[in-house]
Amino acid sequence: MAGNWKMYKNAGETTAYFDKFVPLVAASAHCDIAICAPFVNLPAAIAATGASRVEVGGQNLYWAKEGAFTGEISGPMLVAIGCKWVIIGHSERRQYFHETDETVLKRTLAALECGLKPIVCVGERLEERESGNTEAVLKTQFDGGIAALTPEQFAKVTIAYEPVWAIGTGKTATPDMAADAHRHIRGLVTAKYGAAAGQQVRILYGGSVKPDNVKGLMAQPEIDGALVGGASLEPASFASIVNF
Ligand code: PGA
Repeated sequence: MAGNWKMYKNAGETTAYFDKFVPLVAASAHCDIAICAPFVNLPAAIAATGASRVEVGGQNLYWAKEGAFTGEISGPMLVAIGCKWVIIGHSERRQYFHETDETVLKRTLAALECGLKPIVCVGERLEERESGNTEAVLKTQFDGGIAALTPEQFAKVTIAYEPVWAIGTGKTATPDMAADAHRHIRGLVTAKYGAAAGQQVRILYGGSVKPDNVKGLMAQPEIDGALVGGASLEPASFASIVNF
């Protein structure tokens, strides 16, 4: 269960959040728990989560280890402060910051190289779904991105299926719609990396996951977890998603 705070909260609010959140999920041993916070809040998040089960991640990274790349943050920098996870290729990164399947692959390789666990996002836009192209879009994103990983690299990747039309809109994909897309992604993984990889890969659903719809989504065997934006910003709300 991963939270994506996007560009919300400052350092003080981060500490206050975890003071409430960590006790609420202390007994939640059924899943990994991660919060991906804005870069400047990561030290506060890591200090506040301490030795708890809650891990911390970035929302992006640049693929070079260091260099003259003003404004960028590298994987080794995230590792050095204690991050375990990183979101890669979120649709907002693709849409507003021109990320492509090719740069998603570069970032994923950079994350793996320094030991970060990548959560790689894929998902179709509304017009792509309405024109019947969902499966083709997912295939293009997979083939053009993480399908270039070796099987050993791929085994460390978590995929997040996030239909763009469901993000921050209050429109959730129905559990059946989400499961169909997950099945398709799992099929792509199976075709490329074999049946065991297809079964083992963790695929999260993201897009308006809330405390009141998480149960239905998680009842689908195809759905292994959730990547949660808006509903991860409030400790009780995200805790009730984690503890669905
Ligand atoms: P949302 O965002 O839960 O606010 O729809 C999900 C995401 O963008 O990861």
